Amino acid sequence: MNDKASPYTRITGTGSHLPPRRLSNADMVSMLAARGIETSDEWIVERTGIRARHFAADGVNASDLAVLAARQALDAAGRRADEIDLIIVATSTADMVFPSAACLVQAKLGVHGCPAFDVQAVCSGFVYALTVADSMIRTGAASRALVIGAEVFSRILDFNDRTTCVLFGDGAGAVVLEASDTPGLLASELHADGRHAGILCVPGTVAGGQVLGDPLLKMDGQAVFKLAVGVLDSVARSVLAKAGRSEADIDWLIPHQANIRIMQGTAKKLKLPMDKLIVTVDEHGNTSAASIPLALDSAVRSGRVQRGDTVMLEGVGGGFTWGAVLLDF
Ligand code: UT7
Repeated sequence: MNDKASPYTRITGTGSHLPPRRLSNADMVSMLAARGIETSDEWIVERTGIRARHFAADGVNASDLAVLAARQALDAAGRRADEIDLIIVATSTADMVFPSAACLVQAKLGVHGCPAFDVQAVCSGFVYALTVADSMIRTGAASRALVIGAEVFSRILDFNDRTTCVLFGDGAGAVVLEASDTPGLLASELHADGRHAGILCVPGTVAGGQVLGDPLLKMDGQAVFKLAVGVLDSVARSVLAKAGRSEADIDWLIPHQANIRIMQGTAKKLKLPMDKLIVTVDEHGNTSAASIPLALDSAVRSGRVQRGDTVMLEGVGGGFTWGAVLLDF
């Protein structure tokens, strides 16, 4: 801890951005039919809860979506970009191999000097990034952070693979996290198990001036489903215990938005009524690291999540990674 260290951190503003191009399940059915691949609105809704997703236009990158979400979060917090002293972007679909999306966001916000870096933990990326920002603020390395989840998963989808391409979408969500004398973030916990790296991955890479291997997303959906169901309630309970709270204290559960069945299963195991579950997967699809801050901002702007509410955020995904953050909003 140094002189600037602060006992607590709080979210002071949220923002989000969805690209305007919305594809309904009917649009996906037509798109895949043109390739001779069959799917249906019924299958997608029944197995996942997804009804639509948004795809970024050609030339629009993760940092572009991130900046729009960040500006909204700054406005909500009543802050200017030059008051921010840390930028973290959670993404697996950064604009380029390097520099980081966070550095591009910093430049697009018209500021310079503060640390800016990406966190790559796939769909758990936002809870990872929030936990890193919280730690840096509480040790005095920063006092006011922009924490963003931003993805353009449409760029890494295999539109010949119906088992994955109907699931994902693009978007960004952001929060401003500030040093505070009163508690906001109460506890968090992060995990990874790299033995399961192969069940959700983009195995390709860039080398020798070429793309080597397959640069498109591969997923063993059932394996991911089973692991996700097994870890989400246990990590939530562990974080509650660390914070000295119980399931009954949770006002809102905001899990990673991948599949309504996983989300409802987690809420049930935590004995939470379904009306405490924030659901955006129906309209957003799975936006990986962007899904939690998108859902949080949607819940804040619709008036459901109010100041003082206790919120559980939970991420799970490629790596295999998972984690949770409990906070008083
Ligand atoms: O973001 C990171 C975390 N990711 C997740 O949490 C994803 C976790 N996994 C899942 O959500 C589910 O496993 C999926 C939604 C991916 C798949 O649902 P499922 O109930 O596990 O389906 P399945 O893979 O067992 O497939 C059932 C059937 C298969 O046909 P057969 O072999 O039974 O004849 C598939 O070929 O559904 C078929 N199928 C489809 N049919 C129509 C798979 N995709 C489609 C499709 N349209 N798009």
